[in-house]
Amino acid sequence: MGRILDLSGKNAFVTGVSDDGGFAWAIAKSLQAAGANVYLVCHPRVLGIVERFSSRDKYASSRQLPYGASGEFSPKGLIPCDVEFDTLEDIPPAQRDAKGYVNNDVSISGAMEAYDKLSGDGGIDILIHSVAFSSEIQRSHLEVSRKAYLQAISISSYSLVGLVRAALPRMKERGASVIGLSYLASQRVTPGYGGGMATAKAALECDARALAWFAGESGVRVNIVSPGAFASRAAKSIGSIDKMIEATAERSPLRRSIEAEEVADTCIFLSSALARGITGDVIYVDAGVHAMNAV
Ligand SMILES: NC(=O)c1ccc[n+]([C@@H]2O[C@H](COP(=O)([O-])OP(=O)(O)OC[C@H]3O[C@@H](n4cnc5c(N)ncnc54)[C@H](O)[C@@H]3O)[C@@H](O)[C@H]2O)c1
Repeated sequence: MGRILDLSGKNAFVTGVSDDGGFAWAIAKSLQAAGANVYLVCHPRVLGIVERFSSRDKYASSRQLPYGASGEFSPKGLIPCDVEFDTLEDIPPAQRDAKGYVNNDVSISGAMEAYDKLSGDGGIDILIHSVAFSSEIQRSHLEVSRKAYLQAISISSYSLVGLVRAALPRMKERGASVIGLSYLASQRVTPGYGGGMATAKAALECDARALAWFAGESGVRVNIVSPGAFASRAAKSIGSIDKMIEATAERSPLRRSIEAEEVADTCIFLSSALARGITGDVIYVDAGVHAMNAV
């Protein structure tokens, strides 16, 4: 089978890979299979792990490309970045000594500079935001601390603003596409999805619309993909993820749960010229669950 959509020569800046089981891994593989040059921008603490998934024989089957493309997934570069920090000065001194942070500017601006070097100032055509974190994900809205709530928004939502601002000079006038990943809990009360994450997702969707306007004059599109529940590493920390997957599968119009590859396929479409008129939107890849009333 030939390439479904051709992204040859496009440069993709992909955040949020920490293993081979999350959405970002599937998206990165699909981007490469469609012809893009993929740079993985990972949390400093997981860089070594991602390096192993990207190179060891043991994980060769995980690197198999979709769409019948030949070869294996092989990122053009791995860049450490903690998206909680915009510049090196924002990183608290104690944290600068932590593993993965030492002698390294792992802020968003540091990651952009590292990207420029690795890509030979190649610019950015596709920016994937697949990052979320709350230290109190299992605490309900009545229990979450102010500190954890604000950190969840900083890492899971504001980071999109910081990344787009820093990337904008590299994305101008080349039809670039930014894609963030949200969740339906932004719109509907989801009791098991705590720690401020529902609010963070609502903020992410709102920010994507605002960024679509402000970056739109540079020809940059900003959209959100909202997947259904899926058992990634982050989702397992929610605790009730298996129950959530089962319940949503039962009441989805397609009567099933979703696969990471379906989210990746939608990201390929949004990255391509076929989606050139789409910006500021939220596209649900959830087997239709969002269309249902709670039962
Ligand atoms: N799994 C689901 O059910 C589900 C459903 C809808 C949306 N999502 C969203 O999809 C996205 C990806 O999540 P996933 O489920 O693939 O899990 P995942 O664990 O594979 O991805 C989350 C990533 O965020 C990264 N991260 C956390 N804090 C960071 C920081 N400070 N700096 C840089 N990176 C940081 C982690 O390293 C990890 O790679 C998230 O935005 C998540 O909210 C997930």
